[in-house]
Amino acid sequence: MEMVKLTIDGLELEVPKGTTVLEAARRVGINIPSLCYLKDVNCSSSCRVCVVEVGPRLIASCTLAAENGMNIKTNTPKVREARRTVVELLLSNHKRECTTCSRSENCELQSISRELNIRDIRFEGEKIKADVDDSSTSVVRDQEKCILCGRCIGACGNIQTVHAIDFAKRGFNTIVSPAYQKPLSESVCINCGQCIIACPVGALTEKESISDVWKALNDPNKYVVVQTAPAVRVALGEEFGLPIGSRVTGRMVTALRKLGFNNVFDTDFAADLTIMEEGTELLKRLNNGGTLPLMTSCCPGWVKFVEHNYPNMLDNLSTCKSPHEMEGAVIKSYFAKKIGVDPNNIVVVSIMPCVAKKFENQREELSNENLQDVDIVLTTRELGQMIKEAGIDFVNLKNEEFDNPLGESTGAAVIFGATGGVAEAALRTVFELTAGKELDTIDYTVARGLDGIKEARIELPNGVVVNTAIAHGLGNARKLMDMIANGEKDLQFIEVMACPGGCVNGGGQPIVNSKMKEEIDIKAERAKSIYDEDKELPIRKSHKNPYIKQIYDEFLGEPNGHLSHELLHTHYVKRNRY
Ligand code: FES
Repeated sequence: MEMVKLTIDGLELEVPKGTTVLEAARRVGINIPSLCYLKDVNCSSSCRVCVVEVGPRLIASCTLAAENGMNIKTNTPKVREARRTVVELLLSNHKRECTTCSRSENCELQSISRELNIRDIRFEGEKIKADVDDSSTSVVRDQEKCILCGRCIGACGNIQTVHAIDFAKRGFNTIVSPAYQKPLSESVCINCGQCIIACPVGALTEKESISDVWKALNDPNKYVVVQTAPAVRVALGEEFGLPIGSRVTGRMVTALRKLGFNNVFDTDFAADLTIMEEGTELLKRLNNGGTLPLMTSCCPGWVKFVEHNYPNMLDNLSTCKSPHEMEGAVIKSYFAKKIGVDPNNIVVVSIMPCVAKKFENQREELSNENLQDVDIVLTTRELGQMIKEAGIDFVNLKNEEFDNPLGESTGAAVIFGATGGVAEAALRTVFELTAGKELDTIDYTVARGLDGIKEARIELPNGVVVNTAIAHGLGNARKLMDMIANGEKDLQFIEVMACPGGCVNGGGQPIVNSKMKEEIDIKAERAKSIYDEDKELPIRKSHKNPYIKQIYDEFLGEPNGHLSHELLHTHYVKRNRY
C-alpha cells in the first residue's frame, strides 16, 4: 500500500494514499468538526465547517486528500474564526427551536455551536420560509431546520438508490425536496427513514405516535397489547447512555409493563410463525413450479420499493405478512378469543426499529374484518422517549420475561433483526422439514456478515437446489434485481432488507452521530448482540417453538392452510415509478 507523509499540527504522520486530511487527523485524535460529511454516505464538501489551514489557504479537510509534505494546521485563529462564521451563518437561517426540538442534545449543529463557544449570532436577515411537510405516514420534513448538508440526499440516492429527494431551486431559495416540490407522500419514498438517521439536525424526524399510545393506555375501555421487534432490544439501551449494541431484552419488557401495557409480547413469536408460513410457501413453489425466486416480504420498505420499481415481480414476493402484522392478526383473533375480549377494544402497539412500519400498518390489505392488524407503531426512539417521560430508571431495571403464548420465541426468530437472519432462520427449518429428522446444523454462517450481496448454493436433503441471495440496503437490492432481470442469476430464494445491515440499522433506531459512526460499526455491534441472544436461547429453530405448534393445533390448522391465508397472508399493489 502506498503511503504518504504529512504534518498535522506539528505531528508527523504516515497514512495510506487516498486518506483525507479529516480522516488522518481523527486517527491521531485531532478533532476537526464536520457537518455535511457522513462516512460512506455523503462527501459533498458543502458546509465548510471542517476547514483547515494549508499554507495561506483555508481548505475543507473532508475532501482534501493527504499528500506528501503537506503541513496542515487545524487550530489557528483564522481556522477558528472561519468555522465560527460558517456555523453562525447556518444558525442565522435555522429555526432555533432547540428546547422543543426532538433532536435537542443529539443535534450535530447544536454540539458544534457549543464546541465553538458560539453565544451570539452576528448575522441577522431573511430566513427560509416553508411549511412542515407531514404528508407522509412515516417521515416529517421541516425545511426551516434544514442546513442543506445533503446527507439525507446521499442516504436516499447514493445508498438506497430511491432518489425521492434532492436539492431544488437556487441560491438562498435552495431546498431539499421531492420532485416538483410535491409532498413526500406523493413521491417514490419507501419510508425507510435512512434520511432521518443521516440528518444531523431536526429537519427530518419520524411521524410521532406517542400521544396516541398514552391515550390508549389511559382509556379504561381499551386492552392495550404491545409487541417488540428483535432489533429493538439491542438498541434501546443507547437511548439511556448504554454502549452501542447493549442487549436490554429483560429491562425493555419490565419498562413496557411499567408503562401500563396489558400484555407484553414478542414479535419474535410471529417471526417463527413467518418461517412456518414462508418456509412452506418456498417448498410449495419449489415442488409445484410456482413463481421463483421467492422474495421475502418482512420489510415494508423493500416491499414498497418492489411495488414502485419492479411491478412485474410482485408475484415473486412472498404473500406472508410481515411478522408484527401476523402477530397483530393473531392477537385480535386467537388471543382475543382466549382472553374473552372483543377485538374492537384491543389496541395493538408495535415497537419497531423502523419508520416504514408506520406506513405498513395503515395499508388496508393488512386488516381482518375491518380491523387493522396493528393500530399504532412506535420507533425504538419513541419508546425511549416514553420511558423517559414516565420517569422510569431504565438502566437499573430488573429483567422480566415476555408474556405467553405470543411471547415465546426461538433463536431463529431473533436473528430476523440482522441482514441474512430471515434466510438463515428459513434454512434451519426448511432443511429439517425436508430431511424429516433433526439435523445438527444450526449456524448457516454463509448468510451472515455485511457484504452487500451474499450468495450461496444450498442443496436440501432431498437433492433440491436452492440458490439463495441476500441483499441489504436498496442500492444492493437494485443491483441484484437488475442482474435477475438481465438473466444473469438463477435464484430460488432472495432475502432483502431495505436498510443497510438490516433492521438493526433501521430508520427508527437511536441516532448515532457521524463521528461515532466512523469509530464504531453500529450495524456490526448490534448484529453481534442479536447473534449472542440466538446462541443463548434453548430453542433455535422456529418449528420447535412449542407455542407455534400449539397455535396450529388449537387454531390455525396447518401452515398455508385456509385460516392462515385469511389471517397471515396478503397481496401487493403496483405504484407509480416517479
Ligand atoms: Fe467538510 Fe462539510 S465541508 S464537513
